[in-house]
Amino acid sequence: MEKLVIEGGRRLKGEVEVSGSKNSALPIMAAALLTDEPCVIENVPKLRDTLTMAKLLRTLGKAVDFENNTLKIVSRGPVSHVAEYKLVSTMRGSFCVLGPLLAKLGIAKVSLPGGCVIGVRPVDLHLKGIAGLGARITIDAGYIIAKSKRLKGNHLYLGGVFGSSVLATANVMMAATLAQGVTTIDSAACEPEVEDLANFLISMGAKIKGHGGPQITITGVKKLHGTTYRIISDRIEAGTYVLLAAATKNNNIVIKNASLTHLMALVDALQQSGIRVTQDQGKIYVKSNQTLKPVSITTHPYPGFPTDLQAQFMVLMALVPGVTVINDKVYPDRFIHIAELNRMGANIRREGTNAIVQGAKHLFGAPVMASDLRASAALVIAGLAAKGTTEIHRMYHLDRGYEDLDSKLQALGARIRREKE
Ligand code: UD1
Repeated sequence: MEKLVIEGGRRLKGEVEVSGSKNSALPIMAAALLTDEPCVIENVPKLRDTLTMAKLLRTLGKAVDFENNTLKIVSRGPVSHVAEYKLVSTMRGSFCVLGPLLAKLGIAKVSLPGGCVIGVRPVDLHLKGIAGLGARITIDAGYIIAKSKRLKGNHLYLGGVFGSSVLATANVMMAATLAQGVTTIDSAACEPEVEDLANFLISMGAKIKGHGGPQITITGVKKLHGTTYRIISDRIEAGTYVLLAAATKNNNIVIKNASLTHLMALVDALQQSGIRVTQDQGKIYVKSNQTLKPVSITTHPYPGFPTDLQAQFMVLMALVPGVTVINDKVYPDRFIHIAELNRMGANIRREGTNAIVQGAKHLFGAPVMASDLRASAALVIAGLAAKGTTEIHRMYHLDRGYEDLDSKLQALGARIRREKE
C-alpha cells in the first residue's frame, strides 16, 4: 500500500488539464454490451474504476483494448450474462451492466453491489425500473437475476426518497433502448453524465429524447450498432481543482479542458463567498478576494450543488472565518472526512444531517486516513493548504477517480509524493 505525502503552504501556479469524466465512462463502457459491433470510446480516464469496468467487460466476453485514453471494445464470441461478486462489489458503477445484459441477452445475473462508507446505497430504483419494463426479478445468494424475452416499453416514475438516481436512470435507459415500444422515465436524473450516455446511445442508433431533463423518452429499436464517441470532461475533477485553487488562495492556477456550464451551483456558492470563477475558451480562472465570507450549502441532484464536491467545499469553508452549515441531501451520512479534517486543526461538528463548520485561521499537516474517493480529494486540498506535512494513508481511493493527480499537482509546483506504507 502507498501513502501520499504533501508539504503544504507552497504557492502553486500553472495549467492543469482535466481528464474525461469517470462517471460518464463507466455506464458508457457498459452500454457497449448492447451491440456486437465494435465501439471506440475516446477521452476515457485511466483510473482504477475504468480499469475495473474494462476487466468486467473482459470477464463477460468482450475484448477491451485501452490505449492513450481510447478504449476499443470488440466482441470475441458470445457474451456471458453473469457479473461476478468479485468485481461488482469493488465498484458500484459495475451494477449498470444489468440493463444492457438483460436487454441484449434476455437474462442477466448481476451481483448486488452492497453498501460503502458514504451510506447504504440501495438499488431499489434500478430494480423498480427494470421490473417496470416487464422483467421477472429474483434474488439468489446475493445476485439479482432478471429475465425477459423482450422488454416492453412503459411509463415509469424513478424518483426516490433522495431524489432521482443517476445509475438507475442509466440502467433503465440502456435497457429501454432495445425494448418493444416507448418508455418514458419521469423523475429521471438530469446529470450531464446521463445526457452523455444518452448521446452515446443515440450514436449507436438508439431513439432518445428529453435527456438532460427530468423526463426521458426512449423508443425501442431492434438493434444497436457500433460507434466512435468522445466523452465529456470530468466536471467533478474540474470542480476539485477550482476548490483547490480557492482553498490554497492561489490566483494563478488555470484549469484546462473544462467548462463551467456543468458547475453553476459551485460557481454561485463561490461567488457569494467572494471568489470569482470565470471561463474563457475551455479554460477556467479562479480569483479570490482577500477576505472571504462563509457560505452554507445543501447538496441536491443536478443542477444542485453536487454531493461529489461537498467534502472539498468543506475544506474551503474550514478556512473561512465565521460559521457555515453544510447539509448533504443526497448522501446524508457522507461526513467521514469531518474527523480527519479536525485532526488537521479544523473545527467542524456534526449535528444530525448537518455539518457545522467554524472557520479556522490555518490548518496544520497531520497523518490522516482517506475513506472514500471525494473525501480523499478533500484531504489533498487540506494538505496543500495546511502548514507542515500531511500524510494521507489508504490513498488508493484517489486512484479510483483522479487521473495522474500527483503528477498534475507536481506540475503546479506542489511538493507531493507517494511513499510505501
Ligand atoms: C452516482 C455517481 C456518484 C455520485 C452519485 C450522486 C457514478 C458512477 N457515481 O452514483 O459519484 O455521488 O451519483 O450524484 O455515476 N438511491 C436509492 N435507491 C436506488 C438508487 C439510489 O435510494 O435504487 C439513493 C442513493 O442511496 C442516494 C441517492 O439515491 O441517496 C442518489 O444516488 P444515485 O444517484 O443512485 O448515485 P449513484 O448513481 O450510485
